[in-house]
Amino acid sequence: MRKPVRKVVFPVAGLGTRFLPATKAIPKEMLPLVDRPLLQHAVEEARAAGIEDFVFVTGRSKRAIEDHFDADTELNRTLEERGKQDALEEVRHSEIAPGRCFYTRQQVPLGLGHAVWCARALIGNDPFAIVLPDDYVQGKTPCLKQMVEAYEEVGGNIVAVVDVPRERTSSYGILDVEKDDGRLATVRGLVEKPKPEEAPSTLSIIGRYILQPEIFDHLEKQQRGAGNEIQLTDAMAKLIGNQPFHGLRFEGTRYDCGDKVGFIEATLAHALNRPDMADKVREMLRKYC
Ligand code: UTP
Repeated sequence: MRKPVRKVVFPVAGLGTRFLPATKAIPKEMLPLVDRPLLQHAVEEARAAGIEDFVFVTGRSKRAIEDHFDADTELNRTLEERGKQDALEEVRHSEIAPGRCFYTRQQVPLGLGHAVWCARALIGNDPFAIVLPDDYVQGKTPCLKQMVEAYEEVGGNIVAVVDVPRERTSSYGILDVEKDDGRLATVRGLVEKPKPEEAPSTLSIIGRYILQPEIFDHLEKQQRGAGNEIQLTDAMAKLIGNQPFHGLRFEGTRYDCGDKVGFIEATLAHALNRPDMADKVREMLRKYC
């Protein structure tokens, strides 16, 4: 029997330099898409995929994250007393159940692979998901849920992928594909940020992964890769051949909120998808377009 995926890691220890000075005192992952922080969207996606345990790899100046997912009993009481039921429900929805969230720190941001490695004791010997909150994905079925469904079919390791224009391959981890049925691609290699002329395909990895715990054996070696960082892609590449490894073309749209224009686009896409504000936002946009 395949072990189910019940744990998620959110690596949120990065410096967020592209959003400075906004991210000097506020974590990038707490910037809101309308009224919910990016990280809360990520937690909700994980919940919808059946995740029960939430591991956050944070760093200095990230304390707001712990407060956000905690219960604020004083605020709850005040909202209750003032009859603000809608706001109370929203706030309650942001809480993670007692004993189900775990925090560890990456003291120095040495790269995504290193951040994930910092969660090793909390993951133990279980398969787990990784969600990068700056990739916001909108779709009928949440992206991670689609991945868990694919995992139930093929097991092993799964990364979510999108096709990118060839000239952009040097910004992403790229798949070397052995077989492709249009939905699931069997992977025979991974390359981090290849030059367009050297890229083995244009299928790029986005910030959603399901991995087996053996990834920690490779991360343990702390080898530096592209940008002199400890890259998750390099460690994942070493799993290939020993365990199944697939790329899933998920159904939905990915927005890169690590980029300023991408963040604005995600905000608009989210607002236009909300029945409580879509019409007003559409009308407002007409003024500018
Ligand atoms: P990014 O590459 O977007 O880096 O990280 P960043 O520091 O957040 O932002 P910029 O590029 O300086 O503007 C992708 C994800 O990986 C996490 C980040 O927090 C983000 O969620 N990360 C990255 C870590 O947790 N630790 C690291 O050492 C690097």
